Amino acid sequence: MSAGMLGKTGLCGVIGDPIEHTMSPAIHNAAFTRMGLDYVYVPFLVKKEGLGKAIDGMRALNIRGLNVTIPHKVAVIPLLDELDPLAEKIGAVNTITNDGGVLKGTNTDAGGFLQTLLERGIEPEGKKVVILGAGGAARAVSFILAERGAHLVILNRRLERAKELAGRLSATLNKGVKALELVADNLAQVLGEADILVNTTSVGMNPNINETPVPSSLLKPGLVVVDIVYKPIRTRLLREAEAVGAKTVDGVDMFVWQGALAFEIWTGARAPVELMRAEVVRQLKSHEK
Ligand code: ATR
Repeated sequence: MSAGMLGKTGLCGVIGDPIEHTMSPAIHNAAFTRMGLDYVYVPFLVKKEGLGKAIDGMRALNIRGLNVTIPHKVAVIPLLDELDPLAEKIGAVNTITNDGGVLKGTNTDAGGFLQTLLERGIEPEGKKVVILGAGGAARAVSFILAERGAHLVILNRRLERAKELAGRLSATLNKGVKALELVADNLAQVLGEADILVNTTSVGMNPNINETPVPSSLLKPGLVVVDIVYKPIRTRLLREAEAVGAKTVDGVDMFVWQGALAFEIWTGARAPVELMRAEVVRQLKSHEK
């Protein structure tokens, strides 16, 4: 029996604006089919002013799970009944689960990022990590790394945003986090000591594929370079890091893992991660042509 043929089909989806380029329906529907689960996953274009009604609709229609993307990750929080402690610290939710009318918010972007490192044998505990950017993605990445025991420095183009995030981290985790402006001098100073570099800025993202946030002369072998940008899969930063012998991690797996963790919360089944990854790579490659 295919999904959607019975009266008890579970419904999941993603809300955001814009939404038409999302790859989430592809990975979730492929996973439901592979696992023989009677669920469907659909994209919903939800404007800022429609968020409250969309969440009411989740309750009224008994939608099992929603992913939340730009621009709703922060605004959705007061509309939920419960928040897990990590999502609360991060101040952003990307996954909502409807348990018998009780809406619970969580943040699988953070867990997905950590899982991506761990599955490659990269343990952030005790490591010196340089984070580029101080936006929403940087928040999820920096909280999970700090919780795991990494030592963080945050560099951002607008210094006051880096300071704000560092202040938030320091207050919540009771340990100091350094904030600097994202300029070459500061990069040179912090990268000399760093074990891991994470780019959470949009520098290098399609269509600006010839840009990089870090001059290649500052990259070194032994550094782990993570770019959460996945369009293109191999950013200029990753290509240059690879060329000097640094270990590189692209943004595909973080996307896959945030979806896989949401899938597991909603269905209770183990996510077919390899299948989801293949689906994302297939879609990205067909777009890159
Ligand atoms: P996200 O949720 O993906 O993190 P965001 O909150 O808009 O998106 O954050 C984008 C990040 O990319 C910010 O850190 C931004 O720097 P500013 O805070 O100074 O705006 C960074 N960014 C975007 N374009 C940039 C550029 N050309 N050079 C340097 N940083 C850039």
